[in-house]
Amino acid sequence: MPLVVLVGAQWGDEGKGKLVDHFAGEADVVVRFQGGNNAGHTLVVDDDQVIVHLIPSGILHPKKLCLIGNGVVIDPAVLCGEIEELRAKGYFGDEKRLVISFRAHLIMPYHRRLDLASESRKGENKIGTTGRGIGPAYADKMSRTGLRFHHLLDPERLPERIRAVVAEKNAFLEQVLEEPPLDAEEVAAEFLGYAQRLGGYAGDVSRILEEELGQGRKVLFEGAQGTMLDIDHGTYPFVTSSNTVAGAACTGAGIGPRQIDQVVGISKAYTTRVGGGPFPTELKDETGERLRERGGEYGATTGRPRRCGWLDAFGLRYARRVNGLTDLMITKLDVLTGLNPIRVGVGYRHRGRMLEDYPPDLETLSECEPVWEELPGWDESLRACRSFASLPPPAQAYVKWIEQKVGVPVAAISVGPEREETIVLRHPFLS
Ligand code: GDP
Ligand code: IMO
Ligand code: MG
Repeated sequence: MPLVVLVGAQWGDEGKGKLVDHFAGEADVVVRFQGGNNAGHTLVVDDDQVIVHLIPSGILHPKKLCLIGNGVVIDPAVLCGEIEELRAKGYFGDEKRLVISFRAHLIMPYHRRLDLASESRKGENKIGTTGRGIGPAYADKMSRTGLRFHHLLDPERLPERIRAVVAEKNAFLEQVLEEPPLDAEEVAAEFLGYAQRLGGYAGDVSRILEEELGQGRKVLFEGAQGTMLDIDHGTYPFVTSSNTVAGAACTGAGIGPRQIDQVVGISKAYTTRVGGGPFPTELKDETGERLRERGGEYGATTGRPRRCGWLDAFGLRYARRVNGLTDLMITKLDVLTGLNPIRVGVGYRHRGRMLEDYPPDLETLSECEPVWEELPGWDESLRACRSFASLPPPAQAYVKWIEQKVGVPVAAISVGPEREETIVLRHPFLS
């Protein structure tokens, strides 16, 4: 199938980067369509670990075309750093492999300042954002006051544009937040530098995709964050500021919905969440601690410890609906080795009543208690397993159980961070 969208089915960090890197081997084009450098996608090849925040996870494969769509918000300083880092590691030979949409919005220095200031004013109710300026950048996009990547291609007018918007932001910073102002001339000089360094990557991503798809090329869309962090469908307001569900692939890259062939949801074999917000199957005990240590559950972007808990099959059924999942991929199954029994949340109980649907409001959600089912665990290491049959029978049964409860076939199972530590049941591009 030529166009596959891969999205996180939980609260992010499901191992999207690892699986995109794995399947990019058979793809021609890899596309980011939303989010920004709040994402941290970890790729491990032959013991070498690379974390990408903006550049699509296909970049480690030579010759793959990597596209950043209009739905992404771009911090040019971070992008320059990432390009340099990949180049130093020998992964960025051909400059033409990366194209950034003219229409992508820029994260400006005031967005970072506003993100941090807004979080510190919220005190205990803070969202726990990554502090990368994501929310304020998307807010400006919707308020129609944002700067876009194509503005970098007009260096004559760029300083004037920056002066105008910095004057407005400074008024807010100084008068409302009582923060020091930014120096507009410094920001303008900094961005003229990015214009020189990054201007050559600008292009029309939608048009390139039309050409590539027209020639039968295989395209993999790489989601960032996860379904439960979606601005509309997630646990609002403890969410990110973009649509993270599969539908955003269309608006965030400029393709039509009928061009999508498969929608793959990625889920860990358990659940994690970074930052604030409700998390019904969270474990605040030794088992949660064990998952964190064994799973290396520390943020790839901020280094914060991730909150850990059992799998939430009720949440995954919701993710199936709002994404239209055709396939599920389960990661980090190896981390469950030695835990016996394994528990899974299968429903939510609210004040003694079973909920039929994922609740829309935070108050109800925070009062929900999961209804559990238990499954037998296993003690064998899974890291060397490369086929479903080679998994210990309880691990096979666990995967089959998830498939049945969520109602989506499992297409792949990841048993370690390395590219090759993957069991493929149905290859998205080879079936
Ligand atoms: P992403 O944001 O969805 O790309 O996920 P992250 O990279 O933030 O977090 C996933 C973490 O789990 C990374 O450290 C990966 O190297 C690691 N990882 C991915 N898949 C597996 C797996 O199957 N087993 C183990 N043990 N680690 C994995
Ligand atoms: P990847 O792509 C996990 C979380 C933050 C915070 C909330 C809002 O690596 O899965 P933001 O900075 O976006 O305004 O923060 O969203 N968050 C993520 N959690 N993985 C991510 O990305 C995330 N990106 C944002 O922790 O709770
Ligand atoms: Mg991550």
